[in-house]
Amino acid sequence: MDLSLKDPEGFSKWMNSAVKKELSDIIRYFFEEATAEEWSVMSSYANELREKYYGKKVYFRGLIEFSSFCRNDCFYCGLCRSNRSAKRYRLTPEEIFDCCRTGYDLGFRTFVLQSGEDKYFTDARLCHTISGIKEFFPDCAVTLSMGERSFASYKYLFDAGADRYLLRHETADEAHYVKLHPSELSLKNRKQCLYHLKEIGYQVGAGFMVDSPFQTFDTLAEDFLFLRELKPQMIGIGPFIPQKDTRFRGYCTPSSSRTLALLSLIRIMLPKTLLPATTALGTIDPLGREKGLKAGANVVMPNLSPVKYRRDYALYDNKICTDEEAAECLSCLARRITSVGYIPDFSRGDYIDFLGKDSSCG
Ligand code: SAM
Ligand code: FES
Repeated sequence: MDLSLKDPEGFSKWMNSAVKKELSDIIRYFFEEATAEEWSVMSSYANELREKYYGKKVYFRGLIEFSSFCRNDCFYCGLCRSNRSAKRYRLTPEEIFDCCRTGYDLGFRTFVLQSGEDKYFTDARLCHTISGIKEFFPDCAVTLSMGERSFASYKYLFDAGADRYLLRHETADEAHYVKLHPSELSLKNRKQCLYHLKEIGYQVGAGFMVDSPFQTFDTLAEDFLFLRELKPQMIGIGPFIPQKDTRFRGYCTPSSSRTLALLSLIRIMLPKTLLPATTALGTIDPLGREKGLKAGANVVMPNLSPVKYRRDYALYDNKICTDEEAAECLSCLARRITSVGYIPDFSRGDYIDFLGKDSSCG
């Protein structure tokens, strides 16, 4: 294959003009045929582009998994409502503030509040928690990841102080979406939510699982086209890992190489993106997060949730870092990052073109 990819900027330009068939072909090529040398060229391009905007910094975000209740029934997810074996818990606002305090003292300046879609967390309850965090830790960014809500709700939470929102689109292909979700969920609504979040002014994260059931080169090409159109500030991709109580139990043995190829291609297509090396990648490969950084990622999200609940936030099997206290996770991860030549960074780590935001509880 003539990749015609003579330099990082040229490759990036090509990725931004390629049609669906070309994107599908290049993904297939890197999954199935590329030589070690071509892989090395691709990841060095990805690194060059990342370094152009973010240097060697790797941003730390403190993840707080604050509720394992979920009203949804996504077929791949261990938190889905029909999973009767799942243990459900909810953190109180005080427990969330305690997690933030621990994280703040360790140096974190971004907190990511993630949960299933838990109706208990009304706008008023969330506003109380978000504005509390902003009051106690005014120099910190608050990222939310709690699924689909109305425009009015997103706006309310933004006005309460939330800065960013992660909502993976999961797949941009209609037929594929239907194979992963029950009929009450729709790709149309998922995308609409992402556009609403952008319109309101959040820094937005989209993304998908790699090797999710029924994923193909064409569905991945559709993902790339959607990301190109949405231009999110963050893109979360990580391997799909089967969970024993879902219909996709035993579906596949995940491998890290395809996630690594896609991380590099995404970095090349959208060079300014904040791109996490996910815990899921570290779960399927002991050096997965280090490899993810070398492939172009520049964010990590160690867990600040209380250890006693960690195992109950079981999206997938064998998740790592469920027994270590936050400080242990942090020093282990910081050591790993330094060992591969990158620099742990605890600042807010906003998107490079982010201009700032006023926050007050509206
Ligand atoms: N409820 C929120 C939402 O829908 O965005 C946030 C929580 S949800 C569990 C976060 C992400 O976990 C999902 O977007 C999905 O991509 C990922 N996830 C769920 N099940 C997974 C699995 N079996 N393997 C890997 N990732 C999974
Ligand atoms: Fe709701 Fe996964 S099904 S968080």
